[in-house]
Amino acid sequence: MTKKFNIFITGGAGYIGSMLVTDLVKIGHVVTVLDNLTYTKNSLSHLKKKKNFKLIVGSVLNKTLMKKLIRNQDFVIPLAGLVGAPLCDKYPKLAKSVNLSSIIFIRKCLKKSQKVIFATTNSGYGIGKKNKFCTEKSKLNPISLYGRTKVKAEKEIMKFKNSISFRLATVFGKSYRMRTDLLVNNFVWEAMKSKKLILFEPHFRRNYIHVKDIVQVFIFAINNFNRLRSNVYNVGLSSANLTKLSLAKKIKKKIKNLKIEINNNKNDPDKRDYFVSNKKIEKKGFKAVFTIENGITELLKTYKSSKFKILNNY
Ligand SMILES: NC(=O)c1ccc[n+]([C@@H]2O[C@H](COP(=O)([O-])OP(=O)(O)OC[C@H]3O[C@@H](n4cnc5c(N)ncnc54)[C@H](O)[C@@H]3O)[C@@H](O)[C@H]2O)c1
Repeated sequence: MTKKFNIFITGGAGYIGSMLVTDLVKIGHVVTVLDNLTYTKNSLSHLKKKKNFKLIVGSVLNKTLMKKLIRNQDFVIPLAGLVGAPLCDKYPKLAKSVNLSSIIFIRKCLKKSQKVIFATTNSGYGIGKKNKFCTEKSKLNPISLYGRTKVKAEKEIMKFKNSISFRLATVFGKSYRMRTDLLVNNFVWEAMKSKKLILFEPHFRRNYIHVKDIVQVFIFAINNFNRLRSNVYNVGLSSANLTKLSLAKKIKKKIKNLKIEINNNKNDPDKRDYFVSNKKIEKKGFKAVFTIENGITELLKTYKSSKFKILNNY
């Protein structure tokens, strides 16, 4: 039987959080979420009658509240953030407070026996060397303010011994709090709506992973914490280190009349172009399984549903 823990999740109403919280509650862990509900009030409403779930509406910048909530937890999973480069560029001061200062504060509040699982972006690798895999040992070279706040936050959290950091690939798939600004989700949305994808820097390559696999890697970390701790891990689907053009071609297989156009006059502000190796986490026993094709089919079904409303980060 799996041991049941007290788990505190900030940003638990978000894209990743709402999926993770749902499964942790289902397993029987006692889950407390702190979220200021920036985007939606409903992403956790399906859990409101569950006795092992509590939602606190508030900010991670409220230190008194945070201190109180962290006190009796076995695990802390900080997911609250201003997520993505455009949002951080729009609110730079808030981005630094939420993405970095709140993480430093969490570290200061933690007792030695408590455990933390952090999520950061693999965009910290910036521009990779052509045809080379980025491993956890590769130099971090974040281009955006978002990437910089996350890289610094990881450095801070890893000073705490009982910590794990996951460097996540770009996530895709359906969630209770949907994001259509993420690359796969966005391409499928655009392709479905306008039957046309205009690609700039089509050869730029990055790694992807389904949100259900993200949920699984957190559960894996909770169950195998001592084997994994004090380490950072890339987490992505190893068969999906794809260029934008190959991603677009996969979408075209499902939308036959899709036109793919290349715009050579525009630059990608994100500058992400790299292969990512996920071997370190795979050697520990976790492997992502949901394919890009699964995701495209699921996204098309979701977007076609009459209930779907677009809710972006900016
Ligand atoms: N989605 C991805 O592709 C991806 C990739 C790598 C890393 N991550 C990391 O995973 C985490 C979650 O990302 P997501 O995609 O779920 O984003 P999201 O925007 O859906 O979720 C962030 C959540 O944080 C909450 N929040 C924002 N400011 C807050 C504050 N001051 N106090 C309390 N709550 C606050 C928001 O309401 C939201 O529910 C982030 O830390 C992000 O950096 C995400």
